[in-house]
Amino acid sequence: MAARSLGGTRMDHGTHTERPAIGVVGLGMTGLPLAGAFRDAGRRVLGFEADPARRAAVEAGDGDALGVPAERWFGPSGAQRSDGRGSFDVATDLERVAECEALFLCLPTPLDADGAPDLSAIESAAHGLAPHLAPNALVVLCSTTWPGTTEQRLVPWLHEAGPRRLGRDLCVAYSPEREDPGSGRRTRELPRLVGGMDAVSLERARAVLAEALDTVHPVESCATAESAKLLENVFRAVNIALVNEFKQVLDAQGIDVWPVVRAAATKPYGFMPFEPGPGLGGHCIPVDPEYLTWAARRAGVPATLVELALDVNRDLPRRVVSKLSQALDLRGSQLEGARVLVLGAAYKPGVADTRESPGLRIMELCESAGARTDYADPWVPRLDGDVPHALSGRRSIDLATADVADYDAVVLAVHHPGVDLAPVAASARLIVDTRDGFRGFDLPPERLVRA
Ligand SMILES: NC(=O)c1ccc[n+]([C@@H]2O[C@H](COP(=O)([O-])OP(=O)(O)OC[C@H]3O[C@@H](n4cnc5c(N)ncnc54)[C@H](O)[C@@H]3O)[C@@H](O)[C@H]2O)c1
Repeated sequence: MAARSLGGTRMDHGTHTERPAIGVVGLGMTGLPLAGAFRDAGRRVLGFEADPARRAAVEAGDGDALGVPAERWFGPSGAQRSDGRGSFDVATDLERVAECEALFLCLPTPLDADGAPDLSAIESAAHGLAPHLAPNALVVLCSTTWPGTTEQRLVPWLHEAGPRRLGRDLCVAYSPEREDPGSGRRTRELPRLVGGMDAVSLERARAVLAEALDTVHPVESCATAESAKLLENVFRAVNIALVNEFKQVLDAQGIDVWPVVRAAATKPYGFMPFEPGPGLGGHCIPVDPEYLTWAARRAGVPATLVELALDVNRDLPRRVVSKLSQALDLRGSQLEGARVLVLGAAYKPGVADTRESPGLRIMELCESAGARTDYADPWVPRLDGDVPHALSGRRSIDLATADVADYDAVVLAVHHPGVDLAPVAASARLIVDTRDGFRGFDLPPERLVRA
């Protein structure tokens, strides 16, 4: 966002009040729900977005193109609330930053080609915004990142347009996203952490967030909030690796892991169930541990457990394909030349997001072994955007009309809500089930393999 104008056309369908606006920078998977939460709290919201195609989709309210269900950000009543309170405009001119009392930076933080955190979107946005900030504006970073980013990177970038006194001319805070796509939880209900660069910044960020969210937890510092976000996601990555490793050990002894997890989950303390699966997807869980391992290398300390968890999780799709290959061999067939149907191109149930999707990785691995693959996913009718190049443009088959018996094997990678597996159970020759979706069908072992 280094350029002064973001281009495009400006929408103006809100009821403007005299109150300053809330700015949301980055109208993606996390920015849009946050913008919607502030709008629903009666605030005037200005959205700043660098990608013209995304801006157009936001303006058109095209939830499918955005990958964010429309009700998550505009509410079921459409672009303007029926009671006239609250508004949402896509701002196309960076000068409108001056209308905002608070700006929430919901920007991507990918890893670069060397596996190092890429903060270029935050840097670019900070440089673009800084010259236009209102006196005493509040800037809140919401992206997931390494501990220390707000203090060591964002604050200096904001100061490059001219020095400001923290807590007086400029307030800066960090408040990580906890969006849970596909869960049905509304943004308002998700408890939120916030840390400030100083006491004034913290209190201002807490008070603004509390307008839109039910629960806001102030914490000691920006670094505390940054670290807490990493701990939450590293915790999941490590436990997912653990349960999948456990599955492999039990599998070698012919023990089904799923009833074991359910049994352990009856313990009322000290245990939290995690489900095995075909691998990790989305942006957060596969990527966030890499922030910690990067920070560990930078600090010169080991992060051995997290590194191992990353290795285990990365290997999961390969293990599924290996299980599939063995199952075909045992049945006198082979993966090379086989037709394989993968159920689920999204990375988890109830979302259309294909980032780092294990289902797609399984398709790639099958194809590199000489198999031909199709996929079925009602949430992902066509593979576009964040998908492996070789799979781009493919279309989902329709399970209702497909002849599943034509395939040598079906791999269940994701079981979306509402997808009926009964026809697959009835006609598939071989099912490789990574989600325990076929438990109720009483299939014989020669037709059902758990992986
Ligand atoms: N998606 C989730 O469920 C989730 C959950 C928790 C945390 N996070 C974290 O939140 C952050 C944002 O993730 P996301 O999923 O919303 O990303 P996203 O890619 O969906 O959205 C980011 C948006 O920012 C825009 N953008 C990039 N540079 C810009 C700039 N300089 N100015 C204005 N707009 C710009 C992009 O075009 C994109 O639309 C990441 O750090 C992510 O790790 C995401």
